[in-house]
Amino acid sequence: MDAWYVVFVAWPCFDLEAWHTSPIHLAKQFIHTTHDNFAGNISEIRSYGYRQLHVVLQKWTADYGDVFKYFTGRVGWVVVSHPDMVQQITGREFAHFHDRGLPVISVGGGKLKEFFNKQLLFVTGKDWEILRSSLQPVFQPKVLDQHAPEITRLAQELMGKFEKISQAGVSCNVYPQLAPYTLDVIGSTAFGVNFNAMDKGESSDIVQAAKYSFLPNLGLPPIVGLLSMVFPSLSSFILRVSALIWKDRVSQVQNGFTYIWGVAAALVKNVLDDLNQSHRYASGMPGNSGYDRGVECYHDEKPTEGSAIRNLVEAKNIMTGEQFSTIDITATMYTMIAAGYETTATITSFSLYSLARYPEIQQKAYQEAKGLQNMDTMKYDELSERLPYISAVISESMRHYPPVTPIIALKREATRGAHVGNVAIPEGARVQFNVYQIHHDERWYKDPTEFVVERFLPSSPKYEDFKPKHKYAYLPFGAGGHKCIGYRIALHEAMICLSLILQKFTVSLDESMHPKGSELCCQSALTLVPDGGIWLKFEERMIQPSGTPS
Ligand code: HEM
Repeated sequence: MDAWYVVFVAWPCFDLEAWHTSPIHLAKQFIHTTHDNFAGNISEIRSYGYRQLHVVLQKWTADYGDVFKYFTGRVGWVVVSHPDMVQQITGREFAHFHDRGLPVISVGGGKLKEFFNKQLLFVTGKDWEILRSSLQPVFQPKVLDQHAPEITRLAQELMGKFEKISQAGVSCNVYPQLAPYTLDVIGSTAFGVNFNAMDKGESSDIVQAAKYSFLPNLGLPPIVGLLSMVFPSLSSFILRVSALIWKDRVSQVQNGFTYIWGVAAALVKNVLDDLNQSHRYASGMPGNSGYDRGVECYHDEKPTEGSAIRNLVEAKNIMTGEQFSTIDITATMYTMIAAGYETTATITSFSLYSLARYPEIQQKAYQEAKGLQNMDTMKYDELSERLPYISAVISESMRHYPPVTPIIALKREATRGAHVGNVAIPEGARVQFNVYQIHHDERWYKDPTEFVVERFLPSSPKYEDFKPKHKYAYLPFGAGGHKCIGYRIALHEAMICLSLILQKFTVSLDESMHPKGSELCCQSALTLVPDGGIWLKFEERMIQPSGTPS
C-alpha cells in the first residue's frame, strides 16, 4: 500500500518540486510561452491541430524571437531559430552539446535495451565518437558509388509499378509506392540481399517491420506519451505498465524491431562463416518470435560484396582496433532502416509533388533528364553534375518541406552550461533546431513561401538574389558532427528515381485530392508527413519516331 501511495500520490508532488527547481524551468533568460504546471504548453500546441508543431514553433518565433522555451508536460525545450546559434552549437560549442539527449529506451530490457541504445542516433559521449568514426569508411563516396547499378535496377523495377498505375488511368498516393523502393535499396546496398519489398508489398514482414521503426511511442496511445511528459521521472515506469496493458500492440512493434535484428544477425553469421570467424558470432534474442522469423527468412542468404554489412563485419573499432560485435553491427543495420527508409521516400515524394504542381519546372527537369543514359555507371558526383536542375528541385523541395523534424533528430542536450550568442543555456537544457522556421525565414530566403529552384542553381542569374543568405540556413541533413551520415546515398537514390520517372512519365496532381491553388498541409511526426498523402497521376510520354519521348 505504501509503495503505491508513493507512486501515485506522493511522487507527482516530488516530481513537481524537481520541476520547479530544474535549470530549464528556472532559466529566466528565455522569453517563454505561458504554461501550466502539469501539461506545460500541450493544450496550446494541440489548439493548432493534430501534429502541427512546425506551425506552432513558427508562430512562437514570430512572437518571442530566435530563442524561447516551451514545455511539453514538464519536459522543457529551448528552441533556436537563428542559423548563427545552430552554427555555434554544432561547431564551436560542440563539446557542450555533444549528444542528442534522447531518453534511454528501457522497454524490453536486457539485450533488446542494449540493441536499441547502440544506435548511432542514440549513442552518447565517447561511444558515439568511436562508432561514428569507425562507420565513416563504410559511407565513403567510393564505397557508396559502387551501388549505382543496383539502385538503377531497382528504380527501373519501380517504373514498372508506375506503368501499371498509368495504364489503369488512376491516381496513386506516391509515398506507399516509393517506400518499398527505398527499402529495397537499403536491402541491397546495406544488407547486401534482396528484400523484395516492391514485389511483396505492404503486408510483407520487412515492410511492416520497417514501418514500426518509425512509430513514435512504440505505437502506444497518446495518453502514455502525455503522462510520461507530465511525470518525466516516472516515464520508464509508465512505459513498463503501459506495455503490460497494451501487450499486443507493444509485442507487434517489438516483433518488428526484432525481425530486422534477426535478419541482420543471420546475415552477419553467414559473412562470419565465409571468413571462418564464426567464433565472433553471439546470437541475439532466440526465442523471440520476431527475431526467430528474421533469422529463418535469411538464414541461407549471403550478403553481396561491397554491402555495408560485409564492410562492417570486416571494419575495426578505431579506438580498440577490435572488430565489431554482432550486436554492434546489427544495431547499426537497424539504424540504416530507421534513419534512411522513411526519410528518402519522403524527399522523393515531396520532389514529385513539386514537379507535378509546377509543370514549367517539370518541363525543365524533363529536358535535363531526357537524354541521360547509363545512370547505372555514374558516380554520385558525375550524376549531380549532369543533373544540376533536378538536384536543385530536390534541394528546394527539402527547403520547402524539411523532411526531418526536431522530435528525435535535429536536437542537442547541453551537457554543460554554455553561452550561445548572448544567451546562457543551462546544463541539461534540451535544444531543438527550428529548421522549418529557418527554411522559411525572410532573413535568409527571398520570397520564402515561393518555390524557386534557382536558389540552388549557381549557374542561374537568379541565384545571387535567391540563394540561402547564411551557410547554416539550409539544414535538411542537420549540421556538425551529427550531420546525416547517409545523405549521399539518399540523394543518389532520389536523383536516379526522379530522372527515370521524368524520362518515362508526365506527373500531375490529382485535383480531387489537391484542389488548384490549395497548399499542401503537413504533419510533424518523426518526419514531416503530407496530410492525406500526395496523390499523383502518371501519364506515359508519347514515343516519337526518333525513339525519344516528347
Ligand atoms: C533524404 C533522406 C535523409 C534525410 C533528410 C536525413 C536527415 C537526417 C538528419 C536531419 C539527421 C540529424 C542530423 C543532426 O542532428 O544534426 C540525420 C542523422 C542520421 N542519418 Fe540521415 N537522413 C536521410 C537519409 C539517411 C540514410 C539513407 C541513412 C543511412 C543509410 C541515414 C543515416 C543517418 C544516421 C546514422 C544519422 C545519425 C548520425 C549521427 O548522429 O552521428 N540517413 N539524418
